[in-house]
Amino acid sequence: MIALVTGASSGLGREFSRILARRGFNLVIVARRRQRLEELRKELTGQYGVKVKVLVHDLSDPDECKELYNEVENANIDILINSAGFGVFGKFTETDLDREIEMIDVNIKALHILTKLFLQKFVKRDRGHILNVASLAGFTAGPYFSSYYASKNYVLQLTKAIYEELRVDRSNVYIGAFCPGPVKTEFNDVAGAEFAVAGLDEAEAAEYAIEKMFDGQLIIVPKMYAKAAVAMQRFLPTKMMLAATGRIQRSRTVREPELPVPVNTGADMKLRLSDDELDRAISGIVDDIKDINEIE
Ligand SMILES: NC(=O)c1ccc[n+]([C@@H]2O[C@H](COP(=O)([O-])OP(=O)(O)OC[C@H]3O[C@@H](n4cnc5c(N)ncnc54)[C@H](OP(=O)(O)O)[C@@H]3O)[C@@H](O)[C@H]2O)c1
Repeated sequence: MIALVTGASSGLGREFSRILARRGFNLVIVARRRQRLEELRKELTGQYGVKVKVLVHDLSDPDECKELYNEVENANIDILINSAGFGVFGKFTETDLDREIEMIDVNIKALHILTKLFLQKFVKRDRGHILNVASLAGFTAGPYFSSYYASKNYVLQLTKAIYEELRVDRSNVYIGAFCPGPVKTEFNDVAGAEFAVAGLDEAEAAEYAIEKMFDGQLIIVPKMYAKAAVAMQRFLPTKMMLAATGRIQRSRTVREPELPVPVNTGADMKLRLSDDELDRAISGIVDDIKDINEIE
């Protein structure tokens, strides 16, 4: 059995790869940072005796996504995990356009291309799993993180629609969306902002996702407080929801993005918050979330 994981050089993608290797899957691991991938290959072949193929691709280029598919087309991939992705944080009028377009290319276009190409193959043989990494952000709009939230809405809605098409066709192919809240990965460094709440452990989050994927769950939301947040959103008026999400996002600490590979940084991006606004945001919504967190 072979699994292909994008974004395997870091964070959730690396953890998915570790978990699947531990379960005996051979792997194709994909990202831009070759050295990171080689280190992971060594770790997984040494520890679990599985075969690991490293493929270096910049998935912001649609041609590279198609090239990736062509490279593995005959390899009989059983599982595709679309984990590559990143966020661009800041006020919509101030964030860097090129960086956002690159984000849309990775979070949306690459995931779309790979999902389509692999799904066509999986459907033909009536077998296979596709796990798309969306986010809690996929359930709503996200002021101050607008295009990232919008990109994750795309991932979630696309995945749900495909699920229904597969269900009607009585297909045995699985598709699902993993929708975690904050997870401790390199995501913050790349987005240039610190979460206002503590993130989940990446290994724990990934383990949960893989377990639920094999259970056939469509929408995978780890942690009780996150499930409660999703449920609550359905009943909140839109403007109240926007104000709450905006406050949570504005309470992030903004800093210079640390980019894994040199790109246009949008480093001029700044959020202008008064101390009062920050205090209110941090002591209000964030405390509420911590309270909910303790329910678990
Ligand atoms: N961390 C969170 O709080 C959180 C919460 C919800 C959802 N998510 C989602 O989880 C997924 C994984 O993020 P993470 O938290 O694990 O962040 P991460 O540690 O920064 O990992 C992101 C991965 O995406 C890869 N990537 C980024 N741009 C790429 C490109 N152009 N071509 C190929 N690979 C690219 C990176 O590899 P290279 O840099 O080596 O190319 C890296 O392996 C993302 O889709 C993210 O939106 C994260």
